[in-house]
Amino acid sequence: MDVTYVLLLSSLGLAQVIAQDCRVPVGGNNMGFKDDLPQTFPNGTKVIFECNVGYMPAGSPSITCTNGTWSPVKLTCERKSCGSAGEVENGDLNYEGTEFGDKLVVTCKTGYIMVGNSQFTCGKDGWLGGRLPVCEAVACDAPPMLTNGDFSPVRDSYNYLEVVQYKCQKDYTMNGSSLSSCSKDGKFQPAPPTCIVVQCKDPDVTNGEWMSGSRPPYKYKSAVTLQCIPGYNMNGAQTQRCELNSQWAPGLPTCEPVLCEDPDVKNAAKEEGSKPPYKVKSTVTFSCVSGYTMTGTRTQTCGLNGQWAPGLPTCAPVLCEDPDVKNAAKEEGSKPPYKVKSTVTFSCVSGYTMTGTRTQTCGLNGQWAPGLPTCEPVLCEDPDVKNAAKEEGSKPPYKVKSTVTFSCVSGYTMTGTRTQTCGLNGQWAPGLPTCARDSGTVDPPENKGNGMAIGLGLGLTVLIGSVLTVLGCYFCGVPACIKEKKRSRRGFPVNAAPSADEEVALS
Ligand SMILES: *[C@@H]1O[C@H](CO)[C@@H](O)[C@H](O)[C@H]1NC(C)=O
Repeated sequence: MDVTYVLLLSSLGLAQVIAQDCRVPVGGNNMGFKDDLPQTFPNGTKVIFECNVGYMPAGSPSITCTNGTWSPVKLTCERKSCGSAGEVENGDLNYEGTEFGDKLVVTCKTGYIMVGNSQFTCGKDGWLGGRLPVCEAVACDAPPMLTNGDFSPVRDSYNYLEVVQYKCQKDYTMNGSSLSSCSKDGKFQPAPPTCIVVQCKDPDVTNGEWMSGSRPPYKYKSAVTLQCIPGYNMNGAQTQRCELNSQWAPGLPTCEPVLCEDPDVKNAAKEEGSKPPYKVKSTVTFSCVSGYTMTGTRTQTCGLNGQWAPGLPTCAPVLCEDPDVKNAAKEEGSKPPYKVKSTVTFSCVSGYTMTGTRTQTCGLNGQWAPGLPTCEPVLCEDPDVKNAAKEEGSKPPYKVKSTVTFSCVSGYTMTGTRTQTCGLNGQWAPGLPTCARDSGTVDPPENKGNGMAIGLGLGLTVLIGSVLTVLGCYFCGVPACIKEKKRSRRGFPVNAAPSADEEVALS
């Protein structure tokens, strides 16, 4: 098709116009054009390729433009090789590669020192960097003489790894290593030591003292153990060592005064004494607050060990003992333990009567106030019935339920109840009887006449007195009368029954 088309155009006389040029040719790797290229590549143009620097050409370098197409590129460009750089005695050649641009590094074996260049590069005309280096055996010069010391062996020159030993003169201390060897760089390593004078000062600590260890003069490695005087505590290390720099290590301690903690006693106040900080021998005196009582010692002293001596007291609430009243019961009030202001109220059991105050209060002194009452048995008075004898029954004192039985003497008749019982109220129940003279009884003759006259007179007086008393009761309400009235209700009419006195008078 193309050929036909070109021939057709040529036959029409248009060959100049449609002549087929070539485009810019493309070469292979690592090559370029030898000359500057024209704009167009007319039919039959020849172009020559050239390898880049460091590359070796092979094959024909030229191509031709034929009818718009370049002939195939035959040229190839291979990287140039520098090959072996040679040999270095007691050394190694370390190739990155042996072609153009590759690097080569030469090293000497241990114990040898390089003289010359160590780095090389493969260039277009072979290895660049000059001659290969030489590896010479290491040798050290003698180390410098020591001030106040020496070393051995002494030579002009030392082989690789040869060792010298240093010594310091008496009273001198070596600062550094005593051994040094000829190292691969031709120098003794480590650096030679120095001989120095080491002397530490007396370890002077305020309120401290020497305890054990070395004595002066303090040389290198002298060690002392220190202690603080009583009442002081050490802050720091007790044992110190004299170091090369003539200083104590880890550093002298200090002796700080022993302090006691601020003492705290619950429910107590500090009364007087020292103020914080509490050094040894400080004293503090405590007193318990109201309602509390102290166990222990009031005044405390800060001891050498930083503790209060003899030991802090305690304040416990004041307690009253459980109050015990014989024949009484606690009615109400506080329960044990009885603190200050607790109250307890007592009542005597049946048949007992209280002397003292029912309600007791626990006082600040731990005592019940105003003082425990007592419960005494209720007693009935010794009953006396005129003209009667106690027949049988209890003997005095007459407690509740005691009984007494009366019988009237001969010639007298009883009104009331024979047997009386002592009641809870201290009264005989149901009430003492009376013994009245039988009506038929004859009085002794010698007493009859006078007795009648006196009896009549007294009877009248009593009658008038009684009437007056009754009137007084109604109009005045005097207490004496009320008693009388009470008695009368028990069945002894005031104006009918003679009193004990009257009866004596009558008989
Ligand atoms: C000991 O040697 C070292 C290293 O040379 C030096 O830094 C130091 O100051 C020396 N010490 C004394 C106490 O001379």
